[in-house]
Amino acid sequence: MKISQAILPVAGLGTRFMPWTKAVPKEMLPLGNQPIIAHLVHECLDVGITDICFVISKGKESIPAYFTIEPALEEELKKRGKFHLVEELMRYDSVNFHTVYQDEQHGDGHAILQAADWVGDGTIAILFGDDLFTGPQSALQQMIRAYEKLTEDERGAIVALEKIPPEDTLRYGIVEVESEHPSSSNLKKIKGLVEKPEPQFAPSDLGIVGRYLIPRSVIDVLPEVETGHGGEIRLIDALTKQLNSIPIYGYECTGKRIDTGHPEGYAKAVSIFSVEE
Ligand code: UTP
Repeated sequence: MKISQAILPVAGLGTRFMPWTKAVPKEMLPLGNQPIIAHLVHECLDVGITDICFVISKGKESIPAYFTIEPALEEELKKRGKFHLVEELMRYDSVNFHTVYQDEQHGDGHAILQAADWVGDGTIAILFGDDLFTGPQSALQQMIRAYEKLTEDERGAIVALEKIPPEDTLRYGIVEVESEHPSSSNLKKIKGLVEKPEPQFAPSDLGIVGRYLIPRSVIDVLPEVETGHGGEIRLIDALTKQLNSIPIYGYECTGKRIDTGHPEGYAKAVSIFSVEE
């Protein structure tokens, strides 16, 4: 079954980039000749996703605006003979973009919940903007390949995994692995999830990073998830709730992940992407 929908929750306040983020969403910071958010959208388009929903907050309208078709601008550029620019702008013409608002920041799960009415019955990709992956195959591509190797009965959710050093377990959801899938040692059946454990309580060294493939049922249980620390609804809690109802796998992605959500990580991404583009 083809995965055609993706949700990109980008409604966060971006406190680690303040005061910059008072005026410009961190997702609009440039990497190479494109904003960070365009790298995520391209990751979606490269795997054939055709429908993308941004979850934004007030003041972040520049994110959907970047992808909006502007026929008058395209005409003007054509008149001026700037056909390469027209081609660049037309790149998004066949994508169906949709935007919803998260009025208050009550967590990543709460952000996804705002897109519930837009979501269909198929599997949905979720991409969190802070995590970017470099390498020959994007994280999403690797996960979709893994998903396609699963039988119908095995298809539930897949989360992206990365090896996390013990000193960082407090920042990640850490998985408890049941078994490896015969198709690939990178694909692991998950039997438990622990949010941000102390290293001694981490059930493995594999942490969840910013890509997910989830069925509609995970979104449906989000309202039932108890609000955790700071009154947040977390996607990981919805997955935990689904552990006994659907198969949940983790895919240990290859390639380098960069966390662009803080200034040092962003600086690293700038150095990598300016060389690559
Ligand atoms: P973060 O936890 O990094 O929060 O969110 P943030 O606001 O982006 O940045 P800091 O921590 O204040 O510096 C991870 C991802 O989840 C989204 C964010 O936009 C980011 O892509 N998110 C988080 C929401 O969309 N809504 C929320 O309520 C929380």
